[in-house]
Amino acid sequence: MYFPENRPRRLRRTSALRKMVQETVVTLDDLIYPMFVVHGRGVKEPVSSMPGVFRYSVDILLEEARDVVSMGIKAVILFGIPAYKDSRGSSAWDPNEVVQKAVKQLKEAFPELLVITDVCLCEYTDHGHCGLVEEARIRNDSTLELLARTALSHAMAGADMVAPSDMMDGRVQAIRGSLDKEGFQSVAIMSYTAKYASSFYGPFREAAGSSPSFGDRRTYQMDPSNVREALREVQQDESEGADIIMVKPALAYLDIIHRVKEETLLPVAAYNVSGEYSMIKAAEEKGWLEGPRAMVEILTSMKRAGADLILTYFARDMAQLIHKKFL
Ligand code: PBG
Repeated sequence: MYFPENRPRRLRRTSALRKMVQETVVTLDDLIYPMFVVHGRGVKEPVSSMPGVFRYSVDILLEEARDVVSMGIKAVILFGIPAYKDSRGSSAWDPNEVVQKAVKQLKEAFPELLVITDVCLCEYTDHGHCGLVEEARIRNDSTLELLARTALSHAMAGADMVAPSDMMDGRVQAIRGSLDKEGFQSVAIMSYTAKYASSFYGPFREAAGSSPSFGDRRTYQMDPSNVREALREVQQDESEGADIIMVKPALAYLDIIHRVKEETLLPVAAYNVSGEYSMIKAAEEKGWLEGPRAMVEILTSMKRAGADLILTYFARDMAQLIHKKFL
């Protein structure tokens, strides 16, 4: 049937009609909120390139988490800024470091909150790379044991899920093996499966102090040109025991999210990264676009592309907006 009988505008006439035929809705259950943890007490340090994002000491983190939980957000992912850095990134698996402390206290205070940890070495090494460095090369196999140790220290602190973001080959297998051996069979792995070497991580590196001191991450993170390589990473992570597959960044990679969703039966997560957040906040500050509408539009695009979960610094803004809608 064609025009004039067929008129798609009929279903766009009123807000109620539009809502009834809405295909994709971002809900509170989709959101994972990233938080940065630092040493000290009473610390709430703004990250200048990410308006609304702070680095919290553990005591303040607990207060903030109360707010996050009360808004109905179900999950957080933690990133640590450690007290010391060395060539091996030993502070990554130090049980007295901030992430391990934060996990323990968060799970004690909010047992129902899902606590996920980022597993990587770049915040913990003095050279800022995600793996061990020898002769200016990033070593793969010798890094695996350190990642496994780090993940285990998070599990021992009480983490529900660990999320390796280093992009070393074989890390999911190494982490699964060490978790299982120590009795943490039920700790899940959300793998940063298709993680691209992206300029959109810029603001995060300021927040986490994790810029590489030499070179870049292109020998381990993926080339933004490639789709099939992402599918190969999916196969590999599935065979190694990943529970959730992540695509990162999200906004410039919606096609990857879509393809990955078709490829896998595992839940798919999308990481709406720091640069994607900062772009919108900056344009909003300049009065160039409506921040909240842009936020809803891009988060919806990620879910529409196939993401079951979205890691986003907008989680609290989005939760607030969802609550307002129901008032
Ligand atoms: C650590 C890590 C990074 C991000 C998450 N985990 C930075 C990087 O790979 O350089 C980026 C997150 C963001 O930009 O929001 N490897």
